[in-house]
Amino acid sequence: MTVHIGAAPGQIAETVLMPGDPYRARWAAETYLQDVELVNEVRGMLGFTGTWKGNRVTIHGSGMGMPSLSIYANELIKDYGAKTLIRIGSCGGMQEKVKIRDVILAMTASSLSTPSAGIFKELNFAPCADFGLLAAAHAAATAKGTPTHAGGIYSSDVFYDERPDLNEQMTRHGILGVEMEAAELYNLAHRYGCRALAILTVSDHLQTGEALPSEDREKSFGDMVEIALEAAFA
Ligand code: HPA
Repeated sequence: MTVHIGAAPGQIAETVLMPGDPYRARWAAETYLQDVELVNEVRGMLGFTGTWKGNRVTIHGSGMGMPSLSIYANELIKDYGAKTLIRIGSCGGMQEKVKIRDVILAMTASSLSTPSAGIFKELNFAPCADFGLLAAAHAAATAKGTPTHAGGIYSSDVFYDERPDLNEQMTRHGILGVEMEAAELYNLAHRYGCRALAILTVSDHLQTGEALPSEDREKSFGDMVEIALEAAFA
């Protein structure tokens, strides 16, 4: 047990999928895994371990925002030995070519700050995805026929943004989408020698104001789970 995870030693797999929403973790585990056991429910943050095609996998919520993700990812890596961590989440589209429901594979994640800023100080560290995971996820998404973009994203500290000028600069510099967790996941993966990737469905669009209808969210989320599982065990 750790401060925030109630799992016994050995109950967490080396491969962990991390949706923001704990109920999404439950849905994904019940839909895609066999022999599922609930391994964490501290503070309602659900984690499940099971198998996919014979491979052990944990699906554990991250919560919203980098401070929350950082707590769970730190404990999963340092206390439970997680080695491959894949965020499956949503993002706001920031380019016209990026459409609602498209999948973004985050090669790198820009940020104003992350929970690691205290270490980096004046250094603008460029956190990036694991190339093997990225290439495997791209192949899996392409095979499914899912429109997919690989490139930079923006990990923001705010959902309700008072700095539209900053979003405009991100768009001007080719950033594909905005979310709130990936940069710190990548920082931690670099620090502890793990593999990490963020796979994101475009759920809303900053330029067009469109949003993914709620009935489509489950299907898009399911596609991401399948892409993540195939990439993790490619
Ligand atoms: N901003 C930040 N995070 C997000 C968004 C957004 O527009 N959409 C989904 N996650």
